Amino acid sequence: MYDKYNRKINYLRISVTDRCNLRCVYCMPEKGVKLMKHEEILSFDEIVHISKIAVNKGVNKIRITGGEPLVRRNIVQLVERIAKIEGLKDFGMTTNGILLNDLAQPLADAGLHRVNISLDTMNPERYRQITRLGNIEDVFRGIEAAKKAGLLPIKINCVIKKSHDELDAQSVAKFCKENDLKIRFIHEMDLETGEFSVVEGGSGGDCKNCNRLRLTANGLIKPCLFNDIAYDIRKLGAEQAIKMAVENKPKSGTENHTGEFYNIGG
Ligand code: 5AD
Ligand code: SF4
Repeated sequence: MYDKYNRKINYLRISVTDRCNLRCVYCMPEKGVKLMKHEEILSFDEIVHISKIAVNKGVNKIRITGGEPLVRRNIVQLVERIAKIEGLKDFGMTTNGILLNDLAQPLADAGLHRVNISLDTMNPERYRQITRLGNIEDVFRGIEAAKKAGLLPIKINCVIKKSHDELDAQSVAKFCKENDLKIRFIHEMDLETGEFSVVEGGSGGDCKNCNRLRLTANGLIKPCLFNDIAYDIRKLGAEQAIKMAVENKPKSGTENHTGEFYNIGG
């Protein structure tokens, strides 16, 4: 699929839940998170159906996101169904890693290719502050399990305030170097003001080369993270919603007032 700026659209990011087992300060409020109703959340049948149509139309790269995708019940079964879709070349997941120790091997067995894991600091107390709930040891165990299961290459998403020279980022970079992990620095973004920026070492925020569509956990196809445009799969059907999202993909990101990271999947 090509959009009207001649960008080849071949990448679909699927948010499978808006729930998360952490409450990262830059992503979610501590209390009073507005969650989707359960009946709004797409079923596995719906997600697989949309994925098949997207792959049929030229998508060859799919990433599962959240919220935290591993808190979705029976996520391994969904991964297994998507992995079987003919024509899929790259199948990844973005996770906070907390549940990965138990799930890495089952996910690999189900056909997942690789994982990106979020880690912003090496300091256990800072990790607890940033995530409000997390134990950094769970993430380390998750990373090891992912390696062992062959979910490679593993990329570490490290959110930085201003620069990758920050001490937290430097310590994560050192850890990555020593452990054969690729690091991506993501500038902390403020969706309220619509500020957004390029991901260092990754492809996010690079509008000219943006190849992605997003599927939200409640069935909206969004052509851009930094724009409110959305097409409802349940109203339009998958085929039409995808077509319209590609046709109306904005030239570059502007603002987003309707979403937060935990419901549009980073
Ligand atoms: N700015 C930048 N990155 C964010 N993420 C969540 N909220 C923000 C934000 N405000 C990132 C997480 C994770 C991915 C799912 O999205 O760190 O790596
Ligand atoms: Fe959860 Fe990821 Fe948001 Fe942290 S950044 S609260 S791990 S969804």
